Amino acid sequence: MTRTRTAILISGGGSNMEALIKASQSDPDYPAEIVLVISNRPKAAGLTKAASLGIPAVAIDHKDYDSREDFEAEMQRQLISHNVDFICCAGFMRVLTGQFVSNWAGRMINIHPSLLPKYKGLNTHARAIAAREPWHGASVHYVTADLDSGSVITQIRVKVDDDDTPESLSQKVRAQEHNLYIRALKFALLDFTPRDPSTSDKR
Ligand code: GRF
Repeated sequence: MTRTRTAILISGGGSNMEALIKASQSDPDYPAEIVLVISNRPKAAGLTKAASLGIPAVAIDHKDYDSREDFEAEMQRQLISHNVDFICCAGFMRVLTGQFVSNWAGRMINIHPSLLPKYKGLNTHARAIAAREPWHGASVHYVTADLDSGSVITQIRVKVDDDDTPESLSQKVRAQEHNLYIRALKFALLDFTPRDPSTSDKR
């Protein structure tokens, strides 16, 4: 079976990244092959983790670039040079330009720690607690130009307990995110058609 060449974009610890890499390495029938990890933060712990799992791990520090477009041009260069066909954002903390998003339309997904469409953006756990939500959770969705607004592929929900803090709730949600992302990526690739290699330089 041909597996889809997939990159993961991170900024931090990379626990979701690690789960996706392990799923792809442990199951030859998993439809994604993780071929590249990119972090915009050179010190992201996820980079070391990816390298120790044998995955090319590249730091592209956004602070080294004058504009978002220049930063993304370097990401694009890396993605193309590794023949990447699909992108998973996993704790990637940079807003992407409309141009980059449209280049990867239908080929880029993200995991967000809330039951979308509720709580787009940051501090989702604290906001859910403040609103006395009985349920919170995580969603995997397609990336579109509007932040956290693309079609949802799948979600998990987690009970919010009376004594939950943003930290405890974040841990409970994170523990469920890994299997969620593994399932969502598999689902997203079910009817995915890889690009024609002859047009791959137009990504
Ligand atoms: C996760 O909570 C994810 O939902 C959010 O960023 C966090 C990344 O965690 N987008 P990790 O780096 O995968 O551990």
